Amino acid sequence: MVGSIGVDEVLSRYERVFSRIQRAPYAPVIAVRGRNSRIIDIEGRTFIDLASSATVVNLGYNDPEVVKTIKEQAEELIHFTFIYGYNIPALQLAEELLEITGFRDGRVALGLSGSDANEGALMLAKGFRKDSKFMMSYEGSFHGSSVGTTSVSGVELSKMTTRIIKPWLDVLRAPYPNCYRCPLGLSPSSCRLACAEHVKAIIDEVGAENVIALIAEPIQGDGGIIVPPESYFTSLEPTLRSHGIPLIFDEVQTGMGRTGRWFGYQHFGVQPDLITLGKSLGAGLPISAVVGREDIMNSLPDFSYSFTLSGNPLISRVALKSIQIIRERDLVRRAEKLGSKALARLNRMREEHEIIGDVRGKGLMIGVEIVRDKESKEKGLEEVKKVAWRAYELGLFLMFFAGNVVRVQPPLTIEEETLEEGLNILEDAIKDVEEGRVGSEAVARIKGW
Ligand SMILES: Cc1ncc(COP(=O)(O)O)c(C=O)c1O
Repeated sequence: MVGSIGVDEVLSRYERVFSRIQRAPYAPVIAVRGRNSRIIDIEGRTFIDLASSATVVNLGYNDPEVVKTIKEQAEELIHFTFIYGYNIPALQLAEELLEITGFRDGRVALGLSGSDANEGALMLAKGFRKDSKFMMSYEGSFHGSSVGTTSVSGVELSKMTTRIIKPWLDVLRAPYPNCYRCPLGLSPSSCRLACAEHVKAIIDEVGAENVIALIAEPIQGDGGIIVPPESYFTSLEPTLRSHGIPLIFDEVQTGMGRTGRWFGYQHFGVQPDLITLGKSLGAGLPISAVVGREDIMNSLPDFSYSFTLSGNPLISRVALKSIQIIRERDLVRRAEKLGSKALARLNRMREEHEIIGDVRGKGLMIGVEIVRDKESKEKGLEEVKKVAWRAYELGLFLMFFAGNVVRVQPPLTIEEETLEEGLNILEDAIKDVEEGRVGSEAVARIKGW
């Protein structure tokens, strides 16, 4: 059937069958094949994907070693229910996760998505601090689409949803440290980390014993790739430690080498109590994990976080392979090296283009904030859509979020020339928008959030 139907027909049939809660929000790329950082669509067009399909394909599309592993394990055993019996790939994966996270005496729980990993972390934290009432999180955060994770998330979409479904727990959301758009209206040169003091003040106000945990993305992803100041988390640590408040890092997007470290928190010199993983862990297959301190990980009854499909041998073996590939190909260091080159290039672009307000990131997790002009910093909500549409026309599949932040998060395996080519297209698209060559019809054609 593929090849015999056109783009318009696919889009209208999508409309007919899928709920709006899952509508594809970006450009009309109907993917049929993928190779490393390139995706080939139903009409045979090739696009460079600068967002790794939402940072899932960190190893690129269809890495041959991943494909081989899938085939080999599928021949042996695809599924054996983890909560009924035992399998070796799940065991090896859990051991490897404890090794790379440094929780040597910790424990692991496996799930299927970033949402359920974070849901598990929230449940475990509550199990650990039964009498506490408030979960602390951040404005602009995104932790998932389940009830608990929607409740703690601070992106507008999640807040709109919780207004309807009501949160399952009481949440205190602190402003996230964003030096380009300081939520407290201060300047980094003189603020003395007032944003960290703000968190401590919230904790003091409600009483530290009433705080279940603090959940944070070490670098905020869907909130617009926001990198906290280096000493931000260490300055919170004494307060959290002295009151026994667990620190949960959501590494669903930042983990597995993306930022030039195995885990995003490693840029900040703090030790979390729990971390959550997902997205790229299964190289495109659904798997997630909560990893952390034994006393927290064992704080709920037997079987209370058990999914029929989690820990299955096929996906566990692929996740194990993905860790081996990251090690063997030195992809963490590669992300750091390629990331600093890309960051330098994008910073040069920022100097030359009025609609690039800010460029920030770590490793291959970079955000390019599109504004109306540098002076006002007004979000370029229409401009970014025009850039994305023009990029799509030129063969670059570009995503943006937080309204106006383009994500530059290519596979860690992207060839240097392809990254360069992608950034050239991005710059061409920006020029075309600045010079008025992209009409306003583009705005209606691209969505995004
Ligand atoms: C930081 C973070 N946590 C959790 C999630 C949710 O993961 P999933 O969509 O796999 O449920 C996402 C997804 O974008 C994310 O970026």
